[in-house]
Amino acid sequence: MSPPFKALSVTEHYQKTPLTLLDFDEPELAKGEILIENAAVAQNPIDWKQIDFDIGIMDVPWVVGGDVAGTVYKVGPGVTAFKTGDRVISFVERKTARHSGFQTYTIGNVTRTVKLPSSYTFEEGSTIPLAYVTAGAGLEAALDIVLPAPPADIPAASKNQPLLVWGGSSSVGAFVIQLAKAAGYTVLSTSSPRNHAYVKSLGASAVLDYNDPDVVSKIRAAAGPNLSLAYDSISENGSIEASVASITASTGKVAVILPPEPEKYSDQSTDSVKVVHTGAIKASDNPLIGQRVYGILSALLETHTLIANPVKVIPGGLLGINEGLQLGREYKVSGEKLVYTIADSKF
Ligand SMILES: NC(=O)c1ccc[n+]([C@@H]2O[C@H](COP(=O)([O-])OP(=O)(O)OC[C@H]3O[C@@H](n4cnc5c(N)ncnc54)[C@H](OP(=O)(O)O)[C@@H]3O)[C@@H](O)[C@H]2O)c1
Repeated sequence: MSPPFKALSVTEHYQKTPLTLLDFDEPELAKGEILIENAAVAQNPIDWKQIDFDIGIMDVPWVVGGDVAGTVYKVGPGVTAFKTGDRVISFVERKTARHSGFQTYTIGNVTRTVKLPSSYTFEEGSTIPLAYVTAGAGLEAALDIVLPAPPADIPAASKNQPLLVWGGSSSVGAFVIQLAKAAGYTVLSTSSPRNHAYVKSLGASAVLDYNDPDVVSKIRAAAGPNLSLAYDSISENGSIEASVASITASTGKVAVILPPEPEKYSDQSTDSVKVVHTGAIKASDNPLIGQRVYGILSALLETHTLIANPVKVIPGGLLGINEGLQLGREYKVSGEKLVYTIADSKF
């Protein structure tokens, strides 16, 4: 019997109704591709944004989802780094429906896939790829931080330099904190008070409440006079302005991961602080950055030093995603990642 090839599918542009399951045929693999039998998939904000704002929905039926964890079901031509049965996580390309996450089997690109040690559950593993790559690529491309490459010491020796991560309880922010620590920085961060202990557990030495009207002056006081780097992992609702204002050094850089709305953020840079747009795409645009970002990921996973996002499994498997997308739209995700266990799906 053939495996259940089922995809939670977008069937119209700007779809307002719940996504439905459709069957598909086993896809052909191109050079450098593997077919992953998904065990768990994770949700990112871009998933509901793609549906609601018709971003990257090339055709219908379409499939969204960028994060998968599972086992290699088949390898394509030229693939030697992976074999059938390997546990993997992958930041999938979403260039066709079959290269997208919210389905039972997904085509992965070997350059965007790493092995997942058995010390991580598939659910934990699924929280990592997209947000982690965004974190790493942004540090490298926007803030010019070269991540330590194995076998270099990880964490690198302390640089005695502060780095601000705005939004440390977000999925991206959680990985920025850990990577900045691995690169030797002293991390300050912001979150709601309910997540302060969590953000500290990721490696931040000070965490401030971003809802406090005095948050910027408190960050400046905690950072001292040498804060020149900030990664704004939220990039909306005033976080860019606040990150820029937090810089205490004579010059600085703030990495932002959402394109600014021109009328709102005509130019967030000041004479002394440069705002630099970045994102996960920098890891595929620049193969050197990609190699470093995925290289250190493998090392951090092997030593179990990367802390996955706290997992919130929404019941129902693939069909549970409709509920999770709604939670995302309502901004009800806090300090955790919404994850779906494929075996929970009722076909
Ligand atoms: N360009 C790219 O490649 C790329 C890639 C990934 C994500 N993104 C974008 O980056 C953003 C974050 O993604 P994500 O997956 O990390 O989101 P997420 O985990 O769903 O974000 C939820 C968290 O954001 C925090 N938060 C919300 N508003 C905040 C603010 N004003 N200041 C500080 N923290 C705030 C909340 O903190 P509390 O609950 O503690 O209040 C919550 O924990 C999204 O807009 C996403 O679309 C872009």
